Amino acid sequence: MIASLDEIHRDALAEIATLDTEAALEDFRVRYLGRKGRLTVVSAGMREVAPADKPAAGQKLNEVREAITSALEGKATALVAQRDAQAFAGIDVTLPGRPLPQGALHPLTQVLDRAVTILRRMGFAIAEGPEIETEWHCFDALNTPGDHPARNESDTFYFSNGKLLRTHTSSVQIRSMETGPPPVRIIAPGSAVRRDEIDATHLSAFNQLEGLYVDERVTLADLKGTLEYFFRELFGSSTELRFRPHFFPFTEPSLEVDLKLHAAGKTARWIEIGGCGMVDPAVFAAVSKTRGDDAYHPEQVTGFAFGMGVDRLAMIEYGIPDLRLLIENDVRFLRQFA
Ligand code: DAH
Repeated sequence: MIASLDEIHRDALAEIATLDTEAALEDFRVRYLGRKGRLTVVSAGMREVAPADKPAAGQKLNEVREAITSALEGKATALVAQRDAQAFAGIDVTLPGRPLPQGALHPLTQVLDRAVTILRRMGFAIAEGPEIETEWHCFDALNTPGDHPARNESDTFYFSNGKLLRTHTSSVQIRSMETGPPPVRIIAPGSAVRRDEIDATHLSAFNQLEGLYVDERVTLADLKGTLEYFFRELFGSSTELRFRPHFFPFTEPSLEVDLKLHAAGKTARWIEIGGCGMVDPAVFAAVSKTRGDDAYHPEQVTGFAFGMGVDRLAMIEYGIPDLRLLIENDVRFLRQFA
């Protein structure tokens, strides 16, 4: 038995050296180690070996099986390495790789993300409303009567069903109050559309960030404190801002907020960043009408609201002199903010 094992060992190693495909290796494995393979057949003879010789024969059998198995594995690894080497032949792996261009967030998105983060930290939750809005939510409920210029065909995009592309995100104020009781503390980032002449500070489709806080005893001091804190968090503690008295149908009193724009190579100037004010009792009355309850009774609750232009926030943040740069998608411009 020992002799035949030695013979198998010799034959096997000699044959393995000549094999050069994976199929041949598999065929070899079956012929030697398979159920009817040479080694298996010989090992069946173990039964006839004299008891005294069994340990030596058993040890030999194991040695031979291990030797063949490892020679087989070694050859398989070598074949794979050879195949890889052929595949890579002619490829210079030391050449520098081709860089994958990496995208970055648009400056508008970056400013908006930061603004929203600050306001959420201050306790405002994000609210949403449709961009195709009803006249009720966009105008009537916001105390903006039918003869107000904002409702004019020449200022607003109407659909034939009477709905319109919302002219401001203030409509989300109404939707938030219609769906939930006070206190309400929401912000609504979103797009707004107007038939505006496009110039350095106006686009016909633009982005706004609306805010609304309604509770008992909310005051104008809360409004100013909130906005001052917000702008200083966003643009730094030395941010210059000013409030100017103004008129909006849905707030009383109303203010406009200006921030100082420092654009490279230009003299600093104030630009209007948004409007704000104390929610007009007429707005609470309109909301109460649709709700059919007294949750927003004008004698019970007060609130402040604000709406700012996100595109203009980006102008301040990055010192961009002209809003149009933000929508032209010129990568040379955009890359500066990546
Ligand atoms: N909706 C106004 C606009 O688009 C901005 C505005 C002014 C929003 C005063 C408000 C506000 O919430 O209180 O011009």
